[in-house]
Amino acid sequence: PEHRPLFGRHVLVTAGPTHEPIDPVRYIANRSSGKQGFAIAAAAAALGARVTLVAGPVTLPTPPGVDRIDVISAREMSDAVKKALPVDAAVMVAAVADWRSKEYHGEKMKKRGSAPPALLLTENPDILAQVAAGKQRPKLLIGFAAETEDVIENAKVKRKRKAADWIVANDVTSVNGKGVMGGDANAVHIVTGEGVEDLPEMPKEQVALALAEKMAVALDEIDPR
Ligand code: PMT
Repeated sequence: PEHRPLFGRHVLVTAGPTHEPIDPVRYIANRSSGKQGFAIAAAAAALGARVTLVAGPVTLPTPPGVDRIDVISAREMSDAVKKALPVDAAVMVAAVADWRSKEYHGEKMKKRGSAPPALLLTENPDILAQVAAGKQRPKLLIGFAAETEDVIENAKVKRKRKAADWIVANDVTSVNGKGVMGGDANAVHIVTGEGVEDLPEMPKEQVALALAEKMAVALDEIDPR
């Protein structure tokens, strides 16, 4: 008999970085590869969920059985996420750029004169906070937190501030000297209303399966059938 504890559930996952254009050839980005988010989408699908994956610019193949929507910028990601609602659970794994260039230069910026141009930034929408405050808030809303210091304390604060049910915190400084962003392993702390579950370092696929199993249990409590 197959183990499909997420059968009948619709799960939304965001993954990857966002690219914030400055001019036709330049952008602001970060080191997220999308691996952790894609692994979560794959795990949820393997456990029977219908999965919508909103992916930033990454070079990963679409996991089997997953509906994928590709986006570039934070604002596009925000629109795609809103369109995908309602869902039973959402996991925001994407490393959304907090800021974008205030101005988009329609032509490539030229190197002229002596002074380099000043890059002015403006804030991007906080997708997780918006979904949390929205009318179609999923019954189970999960954010990730990429931290380099006070990992658990910052995650607890983020959980409250963004009104997420769980925050999965990862120390992105390094795991055994290898970076979490772009790497194949992760060590996470799942911060819920009940407490903190610490998982040892393991491949991102295994982090994903553990999280998807925990989501299935939680959904059966929140929304029994
Ligand atoms: O992609 P990989 O190479 O596999 O690396 C995985 C990862 C390190 C990117 C991933 O595990 C991770 O930690 N993702 C969250 C990264 C992040 O942006 O953390 P944050 O603390 O800045 O944001 C907290 C939460 O708010 C996240 O759920 C994020 O998706 C969300 N957010 C942030 C900013 C913003 N404007 N909108 C958001 O929705």
